[in-house]
Amino acid sequence: MKFLFINGVNLNMTGIREKGVYGTETLEEINKYIAEKLSGDECEFYQSNIEGEICSAIQNAKADAIILNAGAFTHYSYAIRDAIASIKIPVVEVHMSNVHAREEFRRNSVLTPVCKGEILGFGKNSYVLAAESFKL
Ligand code: DQA
Repeated sequence: MKFLFINGVNLNMTGIREKGVYGTETLEEINKYIAEKLSGDECEFYQSNIEGEICSAIQNAKADAIILNAGAFTHYSYAIRDAIASIKIPVVEVHMSNVHAREEFRRNSVLTPVCKGEILGFGKNSYVLAAESFKL
């Protein structure tokens, strides 16, 4: 399968910011880990801090499935929500942290209703588990 992994705002700071929450590995190291775990599949990785660029990446995706960690955009971006709703490719929402065990504002996602499902709380393995769900 071909997977497109999209990371949104501040995910480029993984390994630098809030290490107790997101770990010490950089996004590049995490992407390498994901590609190794999914070595039989084609993996494409994209990151942007810009909301509209995430929408364009979703609109232009050439993949069997999108694995999306939109970062804080998750909690308020109706634009990303509408981009997901506009395509036929299934999108799985992921979070490295358990957002339900954190601040109140993280408990709400405007994306979940238009996603196939959601995986959260398993660190970098949230991405791998989301991709593996298509093989069950
Ligand atoms: C996150 C959770 C979000 O609430 C936060 O804004 C992030 C990362 C996660 O992967 O746990 O930037 O999506």
